Amino acid sequence: MSAQKPVRRITTPQIAGRKGGEPIVSLTSYHAHTAAIVDQHADFILVGDSLGMVMHGMETTVGVPLDLMIMHGRAVVRGTKRALIVVDMPFGSYEESPNMAFRNAAKIMKETGCGAVKLEGGARMAETIRFLVERGIPVMAHIGLTPQSSHVMGGFKTQGRDEETWAAHEADAKAVAEAGAFALVLEGMVEPLAARITKQVAIPTIGIGASAECDGQILVLEDMLGLGSTPPKFVRVYGDLGGQIEKAVSDYAADVRSRNFPGEDELYR
Ligand code: KIV
Repeated sequence: MSAQKPVRRITTPQIAGRKGGEPIVSLTSYHAHTAAIVDQHADFILVGDSLGMVMHGMETTVGVPLDLMIMHGRAVVRGTKRALIVVDMPFGSYEESPNMAFRNAAKIMKETGCGAVKLEGGARMAETIRFLVERGIPVMAHIGLTPQSSHVMGGFKTQGRDEETWAAHEADAKAVAEAGAFALVLEGMVEPLAARITKQVAIPTIGIGASAECDGQILVLEDMLGLGSTPPKFVRVYGDLGGQIEKAVSDYAADVRSRNFPGEDELYR
């Protein structure tokens, strides 16, 4: 009897090789059970630091600690077999120096088993990206609307509305691609700028509120499932999980209040 071939996970070179090809499918996930479902359809799953806001009720991602990212990263790796798992480096864990970034990225990779990390920032992070990649850590870059800098940006604002800023965003994209990032998230960026950047860089761009010209798209899972607060305008909502949970919980409460729930006899019959 021949042993079953293990399912191989999608690798960072495979994602990089999708530039200009079949669009890359990606979603966030923070737990083992949703990750197991997403794993059947996504090329990569991001354990995004958006989990601070989506799961833990924080106002921004700034307060997310490294240990929380590692805990959720581990759960997502455990729940999946196929997709590449990328874990976000949280605010304060990488900006200070390439050495600090390496220590924390290595900790994330060792303790979660993920295949890559993501960090925010363009040209200013290029040296750090090069340092990590040269030492064996695949990096996904993230430019445009970078939520960890929301206090400096004055909120969660679409980037590139003023054409005079385009050159700086283009320079950011070029810098992170040249530094060795294997893919680039373009978040909250006007459509023509995201399309231009996609043409200019040799690595795949992954849009979120950017452009259908990007090489792939990522959404926050809860946003596209209709679970939680009102999603950003650009999100196409594919479900009404919030409504379904609300109905199920209200039906359950009504059953309990009218003593319409199974007793031990029924359960063990
Ligand atoms: O944290 C996150 O979920 C992200 C995506 C929105 C790209 O960075």
